[in-house]
Amino acid sequence: MTLKEKYKDYFKIGTAVNVSSIDTHAKLIKEHFNSLTCENETKFSNLCENKDNYNFMWADKIVDFARDNKIPMRGHTFTWHNQTPKWVFENVDREGLLKRLKDHIKVVGERYEKEFYCWDVVNEAIEDKGDYIFRKSPWTEIIGEDFIDYAFRYAKEILPTTDLYYNDYNETQSPKREHIYKIVKSMKERGVPIDGVGLQCHFNIYSPDKDTIRRSLELYAKLGLKLQVTEMDISMFKHDDTTRITKPSKELLELQAKAYGDAFEVFREYKEVIDCVTLWGIADDCTWLDNFPVENRKNWPLLFDEEHKPKEALLRILDF
Ligand code: XIL
Repeated sequence: MTLKEKYKDYFKIGTAVNVSSIDTHAKLIKEHFNSLTCENETKFSNLCENKDNYNFMWADKIVDFARDNKIPMRGHTFTWHNQTPKWVFENVDREGLLKRLKDHIKVVGERYEKEFYCWDVVNEAIEDKGDYIFRKSPWTEIIGEDFIDYAFRYAKEILPTTDLYYNDYNETQSPKREHIYKIVKSMKERGVPIDGVGLQCHFNIYSPDKDTIRRSLELYAKLGLKLQVTEMDISMFKHDDTTRITKPSKELLELQAKAYGDAFEVFREYKEVIDCVTLWGIADDCTWLDNFPVENRKNWPLLFDEEHKPKEALLRILDF
């Protein structure tokens, strides 16, 4: 039984891919997933490192693969403080930066309008803790906090039928969770065209627990928008743990299987609001967590192992 078949009455099952994994992991991608996200290829700096010089070669390769295999794609991401080229913020005032933002959404959005069913319009604009709700970034410094509203309004004008998402991490932690809820609610009340909230769900085997995930989904569901899990993986390490291991023990793999099982059990409870659950990668031989937050430290956060074989975690989420 494949993931996408097992979950067909619940939500789409997505994965993040890159220009190499569409070759090396093609079999698993085609078998199990019915939504794809480019891991990096559709970010601002990957598409346009130098002003007026877009390069769509890499993104196009993935979009061609998705089209050939009839897999819909989610766009990631128009506006972010990371992976945005320097030129965007240079020699520019508020009006000028708004124009650059709109031009970017137009060039990229229109190019992939047929293949992309949703876009993360704004990524990670809310602070993790402290007094500020909005993360300080060149976007807020040059435009102001209303850059978010503008990004969504431009995206709606250019892509009227695409689902538009606000996407963030640490989405189950207080007070960030309440901040995300509050900001999105106020956007809705102001008539900003937002369709959904993306919950990245970069978890680890110790947290969050099932109740915390449930309480968070309960809160976000009250917004009356679609929800997506957009970047799920479950690290073998707590965030500030820098230890290295050569291989995960049986106990660690079991903790991971339980964590995946618990999370998916709650996701299934919210199938009416959840549109898609995306894993941030396919198999443990290719994961960004090998270099984050500790560089060059092996991690095993996904559902298939380094040999592309099913892990206990996969069996657990198929067992219901
Ligand atoms: C990560 C990619 O997986 C890495 O390859 C890259 O070096 C850094 O970005 N939140 C996001 C994603 O929204 O875009 C990030 O992806 C992971 C955290």
